[in-house]
Amino acid sequence: MTQPSTTPVSLTRFLIEEQRAGRVSADLRLLIEVVARACKTISIAVGKGALGGVLGDAGTGNIQGEAQKKLDVIANDVLLEANAWGGHLAGLASEEMDHSMPIPDVYPRGNFLLLFDPLDGSSNIDVNVSVGTIFSVLRCPEGVVTPADEHFLQPGTAQVAAGYCVYGPQTTLVLTVGHGTHAFTLDREVGSFVLTTRGMRVPEETKEFAVNASNQRFWEPPMQRYVGDMLLGKEGPRGKDFNMRWIASMVADVHRIMTRGGIFSYPLDSKCAPKGGKLRLMYEANPMSFLVEQAGGAASTGRQRMMDVQPTGLHQRVPVFLGSKAEVEAAVRYHAEHD
Ligand code: AHG
Ligand code: MN
Ligand code: MN
Ligand code: MN
Repeated sequence: MTQPSTTPVSLTRFLIEEQRAGRVSADLRLLIEVVARACKTISIAVGKGALGGVLGDAGTGNIQGEAQKKLDVIANDVLLEANAWGGHLAGLASEEMDHSMPIPDVYPRGNFLLLFDPLDGSSNIDVNVSVGTIFSVLRCPEGVVTPADEHFLQPGTAQVAAGYCVYGPQTTLVLTVGHGTHAFTLDREVGSFVLTTRGMRVPEETKEFAVNASNQRFWEPPMQRYVGDMLLGKEGPRGKDFNMRWIASMVADVHRIMTRGGIFSYPLDSKCAPKGGKLRLMYEANPMSFLVEQAGGAASTGRQRMMDVQPTGLHQRVPVFLGSKAEVEAAVRYHAEHD
C-alpha cells in the first residue's frame, strides 16, 4: 500500500480534503481559493512599495470618514475583480464602499455573500509595517436574487467562513470554515499557500495586552480599572506583571495573539462612542471573533459575545475584546462589576 504523501499540503489540497470530509462545499472551496488568489496579488503590490508607486494617499475618502490610501483602493479593486465572475457569490460588501454590491447581471450569481476589509492597518502602509486583509463569508438568504445591504446584516454566528491574510515578513493566510483555525504561509517562489499550522490554539492564559493607551483618558470607568489593575503588576489584584504591544494593524495584533496568546482590545471611548466603537463589526470584529473562537479563544464587546450581536448597519462599529479566553473573561468581569 502506498504511504500517505509527506509533501507540503497546499491550500488547494487542504480544501479538497476538507470537501471530501464534508466540511466545505465545492462552491465555498472555490470562493476561498479566489480570495486567496486575490490576497497573493495584494501581497505582491504591498511588497513592491515605493517601486510599484503604491504608497501614499489616493486623494479620496471613504464612508468611514477616512482618507483612503492608494493601497486601500487597489486592494478593494483586486478583491472585487477577482470575485465578480466566479459564479460563487451573490454580492459583496467592503469597508471601502458605501453600499453592498450585487454581482453584475452579466455573470451568474451564487449563494454566498463576501464582506471584506481589503487593507487593514492603512496607517502602517507607508512606514513598512505589517498590514493585512480580513474577510467574512455569509449565506445569501433563501430566495434573494439581488442582495441589498439588509441581507448582509446577519450575526457572526451565521458566518460560514472567515479569514485574514497578514502581509508581514511572511505572507500568512489564516482560515476557518468552522472546523478549527489553520494557517498557510505563502511560498513566494512557488506562488502557493502551504499549510503551516493545522488547528491553531490561542493559549488560555496570558500576560500580554494590546490597546492604544493614548486613548486612556477617554475610556469608560471599567476599562480604566481593568488596564489600571494590569499595570499594577504582581503587586496589584491581578497578581502578575503584564507586557504591552500595539501595532495598530488589527491583523498583525490578532496574528500575534493567535500565535502566542494575549488580549486585543479597542474599547468604547468618549471619542468613538457616538459611532458605537472604532472597529467595524461586519468585516473586522466578526471574522476575527470566528477565527479566535475556533482556536479556543474568546471574543466579546465587553458586555456580549461578539458573534451574538445582531447587526443594524453594514458599517456598524463595536467595542472589541478578543484573544486568550481567561483574559477576555476577566475584561468582561470588570464591565459586569461596574454596570
Ligand atoms: P483600517 O486600516 O482598515 O481602517 O483599520 C485600522 C484599524 C485597525 O487595524 C487598528 O487596530 C486600529 O484601526 C488602529 O487604531 P488607532 O490608530 O486608533 O490605534
Ligand atoms: Mn480604513
Ligand atoms: Mn481594518
Ligand atoms: Mn481597511
